Amino acid sequence: MKHFLKETDFTLQEAAEVLAQAQSFKKSRADHWFPTLAGKSWGMVFSKSSTRTRVSFEVGIHELGGKAIFLNQNDIQLGRGESIGDTAKVLSRYLHGLIVRTYDHQDLVKLSQDGSIPIVNALTDFLHPCQLYTDVFTLAERWATGDDLISSLKGRKVAFFGDCASNVSNSWILGANLFGMKIALAGPEEFAPGLEIRELLEKEGYGDNFEFTTDPEEAAKEADVLYTDVWVSMGKEEEATGRIEKMVPYAVTADLLSLAKPDAYFMHCLPAYPGKEVSQEVLDNPRSIVFDQAENRLHAQKGILAFLAQRSSEG
Ligand code: CP
Ligand code: NVA
Repeated sequence: MKHFLKETDFTLQEAAEVLAQAQSFKKSRADHWFPTLAGKSWGMVFSKSSTRTRVSFEVGIHELGGKAIFLNQNDIQLGRGESIGDTAKVLSRYLHGLIVRTYDHQDLVKLSQDGSIPIVNALTDFLHPCQLYTDVFTLAERWATGDDLISSLKGRKVAFFGDCASNVSNSWILGANLFGMKIALAGPEEFAPGLEIRELLEKEGYGDNFEFTTDPEEAAKEADVLYTDVWVSMGKEEEATGRIEKMVPYAVTADLLSLAKPDAYFMHCLPAYPGKEVSQEVLDNPRSIVFDQAENRLHAQKGILAFLAQRSSEG
């Protein structure tokens, strides 16, 4: 059973297929109905808030001819202590796939092991792979000259600022390695990439392939993309005051953007907090592509769902 829990659950070739499919869905969204999920029901179990992921998945499933069933964790017995294993087994008897947003990444791994339907990671504390595939798609559609989206990413430098131990930064570390990009991260020492992502990189055969520095200017130099995420991720609210104080030097400002390549893009997974991790000036800059990223969640995730549906129909 094919799942999408982390970026490397798809090979580079498979990722290329997903992105090409995303591009095709995007081009023909207005004129075509793609009944890839006709007669299929996909569950969405979310334990955290969401605007983009929830709405883009619900709309995407609808546009693929399927039915989405949204379940807040507290709507189901999981919220009252039913085990993940039993939940996975029961939901597998009704649904054709499950999209999950939760805290502990290992809960997702357990769901995928105990259930018998494809599981999609809609964000855990560790990784946000739907975001990463969307982000590389958003870049490739700008950089690619022909149909080959993937090659246009190779060798490009992404600089990430702020919380370098977050789900989005971890996804960038893993995703950059998968797509042959360079990743430099700048943040306070205590928010450097952690052991879990280092071990995963090692396991996937990439070694320690990223740069971490406490100097934001060093990371920004020669970058093709400046990227940031919130300083206080969901579930970390109690740490907010301490985090914000330490992250101030890593805000993405017009001065920092001026150190990157002249044609560099600014990206943010959103939600953004202007005046904190990014200035309003940068968000409004013509080089900012944050709303294209947000839109592309829909197209990229349709690509991911179509790919998984096709794989599970092949057995
Ligand atoms: N970027 C992202 O995942 O946004 P939501 O939390 O709104 O889904
Ligand atoms: N790191 C953020 C990403 C939100 C899309 C969080 O987990 O809250």
